[in-house]
Amino acid sequence: MSRRPMIAPSLLSADFARLAEETARIADADWVHVDVMDAHFVPNLTLGEPVVKAIQAVSPVPLDCHLMITDPERWAPAYAELGARNVTVHAEACTGDPRDLARDLKAAGALAGLALKPGTPLAQYLDVLPAFDTLLVMSVEPGFGGQSFMPEVLDKVREARRLVDTGHLQLLVEIDGGINADTIEVAAEAGVDMFVAGSAVYGAADPSAAIAALRAQAARSFPTA
Ligand code: DX5
Ligand code: ZN
Repeated sequence: MSRRPMIAPSLLSADFARLAEETARIADADWVHVDVMDAHFVPNLTLGEPVVKAIQAVSPVPLDCHLMITDPERWAPAYAELGARNVTVHAEACTGDPRDLARDLKAAGALAGLALKPGTPLAQYLDVLPAFDTLLVMSVEPGFGGQSFMPEVLDKVREARRLVDTGHLQLLVEIDGGINADTIEVAAEAGVDMFVAGSAVYGAADPSAAIAALRAQAARSFPTA
C-alpha cells in the first residue's frame, strides 16, 4: 500500500480580493484549504458560506473547508451541500455526538473531517473517529496563519497513523499550521497524508513551484512500504 503526500494550500494567506486567480495559481494542488472563522471559536473572522460558494464555483481544485466556528451542527452541512470535497469541524466545538454530524456531512456528499486543537488528546475521540474520513491535527493554535509549528502534536499524528496502518481506522491524516520546508519532513515521517500550507505556498514567488517542492520533500521523507 503506497501513500503519496498531498498538499492543500490555505487561502488564508492568499489575496482575498482576487480569490479566483489565487485558486488558479495553485491548480496543481490536491485540495484548496478554506479557513472559516467566526470570531467566537477563534479570535479571528474570515469568510463564510456565500464566499465559499463563490470559491467553489471557480476553483479548479476541490475545497477543504476547515470550520473554526461554534455550533458546527447548525452551520457545517451547508458547506457539504455547496459541493466542498471535505468539511472539517472542530471536536471542541461539537455540542452533540460528532458522529451524527459526520453522517449529515456524508449524506450531503462530502467527506467528514474532525479537527483537534494542539491541546486536545486523540484518545478522547477514538470512539467517534470511525465515523470520519479525515483527521485534522492542528500544529498551531487555530486562528491565524504564519505561526510556528508545534512539534509536540506529532505524537498524535504517529498514533493516528498507527491506528490507520493496523486497520483500526480509515482516515486521511491531515496537518495544519506552520508547515514549510523546515517542518514538512518531520510531519511526513510521523505519518501525515495531507499537508496544509498557507504562508509557505502563497508567500512564495511561485506558488506552483512551492507545492511541487513541498510534495517532493515530503515524498522523500515518507516511510517506504
Ligand atoms: C490557522 C489555519 C491554517 C493557516 C495555516 O488557524 O487553520 O490553515 O492558514 O497557515 P500557515 O501555513 O501559514 O501556518
Ligand atoms: Zn486551517
